[in-house]
Amino acid sequence: MNIIDIIIKKRNGNKLNKEEIEFAINGYTNDVIPDYQISAFLMAIYFKGMDPEETYYLTKAMLNSGDILDLSKIKGVKVDKHSTGGVGDKTSLVVAPLVASLGIKVAKMSGRGLGHTGGTIDKLESIPGYDVNISEEDFINQVNKIGVALVGQTKKLVPADKKLYSLRDVTGTVDSIPLIASSIMSKKLASGADVIVLDVKVGSGAFMKNLDEARKLALAMVQIGKMEGKKVAAILTDMSNPLGKAVGNSLEVIEAINTLNGNGPKDFTDLCIEASAELILEANYAKNIEDAKALAIKQIENKEGLKKFADLVEAQHGDASYIYDPSKFDKSKYVYDVIAKNSGYVNNINSLMIGNASMKLGAGRIKLDDIINPRVGIVLEKKPGDYVNVGDVLAKLYSDDNLDKDIYNMVLDAYKIKESYEATPLVLDIIK
Ligand code: URA
Repeated sequence: MNIIDIIIKKRNGNKLNKEEIEFAINGYTNDVIPDYQISAFLMAIYFKGMDPEETYYLTKAMLNSGDILDLSKIKGVKVDKHSTGGVGDKTSLVVAPLVASLGIKVAKMSGRGLGHTGGTIDKLESIPGYDVNISEEDFINQVNKIGVALVGQTKKLVPADKKLYSLRDVTGTVDSIPLIASSIMSKKLASGADVIVLDVKVGSGAFMKNLDEARKLALAMVQIGKMEGKKVAAILTDMSNPLGKAVGNSLEVIEAINTLNGNGPKDFTDLCIEASAELILEANYAKNIEDAKALAIKQIENKEGLKKFADLVEAQHGDASYIYDPSKFDKSKYVYDVIAKNSGYVNNINSLMIGNASMKLGAGRIKLDDIINPRVGIVLEKKPGDYVNVGDVLAKLYSDDNLDKDIYNMVLDAYKIKESYEATPLVLDIIK
């Protein structure tokens, strides 16, 4: 077998077998096959695609490139949730403790943010003391003891994905359905959960710009999970607007705390309930989706989800008093108001522009080793459907620097204000 024949076979639109896919992935992970040949291999997949079986073999080859967590020492059903990444998406901070407060085991590994979307791990690190790097043994003990752990991915988990993702990033091969599906699912399968709920984002701020493409990605991931004997559900959600009001690390943690207190923005609260309900249902803790939603709402009303969040923070050496008193979070030096120049209804807030503005304020990173500032970010005071008058505050910029006019204008231009407004749904489809 040789890599040139495999590249040509895929380039000509033919189906690869398990051995050929393993040969390419193992060869690349072990530094036997060079970047330039795998770049051509990725580009051939980008143009010719892969069928469900090939995509599954690709996922398995990536999964087997590193450690696979053995969660068998955790009693009960283990669940995990993953989002394909969105602006203001702090759903895991709410869903994980909410679901865990019902007794469902949440053993979750999350990534750091890159580009305009933030990572759960970065957000958690804005809580003083919170340790994302606990050992596998402590991870398992913690889930057995308090029902939830939120940690960073270990370096040994799916090393093939780390190499492939960096290469895809610089070869124009990121937005390919089999490549995204295998990248996400190899990591989810390596983390060992029995039930996985995927939040697939659709719209300007997401990888998948339209519903058709997002459905294909969701189906590809659900199929991979099923072939591996896991229960997988994918929720397709609108990402043409940022989720909730807060964008930026500690600002998002504060919004998650408010949501667990029952005072979160409506769109964000709705999505948290929707995602929690899917996990509750798939874990067999409710008979139907309505009962599952009612349980999720109850855990907000009785503050059990909030308590569990504080338990989680404490278990991971963070200062849990911040969860009960979010005014303790460090403030940015300055807060600048972004002022409306037109009146009318906010129709849309461009997620990509808000994500980029927040990154420029210092809340995100362009390169993986950039240091983020937990204090800075944006709070969207007006959301789609709100009426604004000239002079109203649209958004607040939390900054440690003098006002940057480019950032200000980016946020102002992200707002599309029109004479009328028609609401669009947040959840677009659910695929199982
Ligand atoms: N997230 C991932 O982990 N991988 C991709 O390819 C895209 C999004």
